[in-house]
Parts: sequence; C-alpha cells; structure tokens
Amino acid sequence: MTTTQRTNYGVNEIAQLFPSLMKINDKSLRERVAAVWNEAITTGLGGKGWTFDELRAVKFTLLAGDIDMTFVEHLNSCALQCIAIADVLESSFRCGIPIRRDILIAGALLADVGKPLEFDKDASGKVIQGTFGQQVRHPFTGVALAYKHGIPGEVMHIIATHSHEGDKMERSIESIIFHHADFVDFDIAKFLGKRAAKK
Ligand SMILES: [Fe+2]
Repeated sequence: MTTTQRTNYGVNEIAQLFPSLMKINDKSLRERVAAVWNEAITTGLGGKGWTFDELRAVKFTLLAGDIDMTFVEHLNSCALQCIAIADVLESSFRCGIPIRRDILIAGALLADVGKPLEFDKDASGKVIQGTFGQQVRHPFTGVALAYKHGIPGEVMHIIATHSHEGDKMERSIESIIFHHADFVDFDIAKFLGKRAAKK
C-alpha cells in the first residue's frame, strides 16, 4: 500500500467503534453501513480524515457546553436505546407494532454519519462546526454518503428526518423511535451542560 492510499476500514474495524453494527442481520446491509462510516471517517475533517482516537474524543454535541458525554458514546447509546424500545413496544401491544430491526439499527448507526464531515478543527485543535458543516448539515451529507453506498430508502429516511429538518415530514416508525432516543440523550446533555455552566 502506498502512502497516498486511504485506510479502508471494514465491518470488524467499524464494529470496534459501534458494536451494535453486528446486530444487523443482513450481511450486505451491515457491510454497506460499515462502508458509509469508512468513507465518512477517511474523508471527513475537511478531507484530512479522522483517526479512531480523534473521533472517540469528540464531544457528543457542540451545543451542550462542558460535559463528558462523547459523540461515539451517544451513537452507541442511541442504537441500544432503539433496540430496547423495540423490545418493549413489541411485548407491550397486542396489535403488533411492525418494526424492521435491521432498518432501525442501520438508521441509528448512520443518522449522524455526516457529522465527521460537518465537524472541523480550529487553529487550536478544538472541534467546531466547519464552514461546509454550516452550509450542509449532517442529515444531508449523511443521506448523500448513504446513497453512494446503496443504503435502502427506509434507512436514508431515518438519516434525513431524525433531526429538526424532518419535523415537517411524517416519520416512519423506525424514525420516530430513533428521533426520541436521540433527543433523550440530547436533552440530558443540555441539562448537564447548563448545570456545569452554573458551577
Ligand atoms: Fe444528528
């Protein structure tokens, strides 16, 4: 391999960051999710690419102030919350809630895959929302990356609608589940951020 070639992370490497990847039963979908993450990691940060350690050090949200929750932890939390919510819904209602698990888990793992492109670093090395990230937020870049790798429309729908950009659309069941899991973490982060700011 020459030095000009990019690293190529496969399913096993991406699963080190996001273990719930292995809970996607459809092997082809699992590989595609890993391929999307590989592209986001290796082409993000203004084209420089992220190391796993750099990505693990990124705070969960730039909007919440000084808290210890990280971006990677948040994605893993959301994926596990989605699975737990699906378990509860399926056992609680006699009518049967139709939940497509693979779609849900893939959507949970890809909803923020555009963030490595949205984020940049300032001169001091602090992670910030870059100019490109201001122009094109992560739900849009996430869909663009997913489309390139043949991710199904049901999963791209979750990426597209998970944040406030999707408030005017009718979210699918899987997108409703992810949207709420995402905001459980986000609202707690904001709460903790406010409390830290008062100290
Ligand atoms: Fe997001």
